[in-house]
Amino acid sequence: EDLTIDNVADKVAKRPLPLFNPRDPDFIRDPYPTYHRLRRQSPLLWDPAGNYWLATSYDVCSEILRDRRFGRRYEAHIENIYRRGMMDQTAFRLMAMTMLMQEPPNHARLRGLVTEAFSARRVVLMRQRIRTLVGDLLDQLVPRGTMDVIRDFAHVLPVTVICDMLGVPAEDTRLFHETTISTRMLDPVPMNESELREANAMFEEQGAYFTNLFERRRRDPEDDLITALVQVGDGGGLTDDELLANVWLLFAAGHETTRNLIGNGLLALHRNPGQLARLQLDPSLIPSAVTELLRYDSPVQFVGRTALEDTDIAGTTIAEGQVVLCLVGAANRDPAKFGEPDLLDFGRSNNRPLSFGGGIHFCLGAQLTQIEGQEAFVGILSRLPGMRLHDADEPSWQPNFAIHGLKTLMASWDPA
Ligand code: HEM
Repeated sequence: EDLTIDNVADKVAKRPLPLFNPRDPDFIRDPYPTYHRLRRQSPLLWDPAGNYWLATSYDVCSEILRDRRFGRRYEAHIENIYRRGMMDQTAFRLMAMTMLMQEPPNHARLRGLVTEAFSARRVVLMRQRIRTLVGDLLDQLVPRGTMDVIRDFAHVLPVTVICDMLGVPAEDTRLFHETTISTRMLDPVPMNESELREANAMFEEQGAYFTNLFERRRRDPEDDLITALVQVGDGGGLTDDELLANVWLLFAAGHETTRNLIGNGLLALHRNPGQLARLQLDPSLIPSAVTELLRYDSPVQFVGRTALEDTDIAGTTIAEGQVVLCLVGAANRDPAKFGEPDLLDFGRSNNRPLSFGGGIHFCLGAQLTQIEGQEAFVGILSRLPGMRLHDADEPSWQPNFAIHGLKTLMASWDPA
């Protein structure tokens, strides 16, 4: 049928227009103008192209994250994205068994096994070890005069910390250099065949490594988290696959995100010399600065939930089975919650960004990552006060939506 002036509007209206394209490089580089546009339309929007709701305001995101009428239906969620069964794929089968994707009571059972290790009390005791690690890393880097902040620092620190906790020997950590494919799995856009192969291969390779390590710890127990979990598994109702999936989760969640807190944070400091100077003058601002950097450019941009029943919220009915993306990156810039939301300001009081999610899945590593972030920024600011960032105008971003971070960030300074 020919397009005429009479039917063109009709055609356009019927074709589902995406509210935004999560693969658009401009969106990935700077998602915040899009979030403002969407929030001005409504705090809760149906995206016909993506087949999901978007929660764009602080209040609605925060409410949905805590509301138990919303939870996880991982398999249905993945079918909605791929429109076919995917649970026979190694990557999705294991992801489904992580606590992150589980509902009560399984969720509580899995999370309960590791909460103590990540408690505020235990993590505070790790600060000195983290400080030493930062110092050692910078001892190696400072004489070089140059580094890729992401590869040489922001990646190495959290990987070393989580490997320490789990009991992964230091000489094996280089096995875990390229794991970003797993963050691609969190996006609401199907992976292509080669990405799927890459994700399966990563899980198989890391799975083989961890399975071997579990065997070693069964034979020769050590004072580490993997030994503790292996011992629970033997008779405690933790299957081998659950053990593997959740150790893998701690490992991946423990560094992909912290790396981006450090990377996005250094970029934001560089682009806001006033706040950088303020922090250099008053280092007691460091904890507030880390919170504000988490708000300003969150390493996690959205958290997904599925309605477990028909639910009325924000004047709208969300039908059972429908998915909501709680855009925490948008919530963190909601002007109704944060004055001048697009300004980086280390003086904010009562600053409570949603970067760690909320409700029963609230980030297990929240305390740990804040200490890592604080020590990382203190270390860099004190040891490399004259550090220059090279590609700060056009840095290269990882092409992902859920996890927001840089591929590389080149820096240099005058070696002393
Ligand atoms: C869950 C963010 C660092 C372990 C989450 C969630 C968010 C998040 C938003 C909730 C997901 C949801 O509700 O669907 C972050 C950010 C980090 C960070 C922004 C750093 C800047 C860490 C670290 C660890 C960790 C260092 C561990 C060593 C976990 C785990 C979960 C989780 C295990 C799942 C908890 C559950 O399902 O009960 N994180 N995270 N995270 N995070 Fe983090």
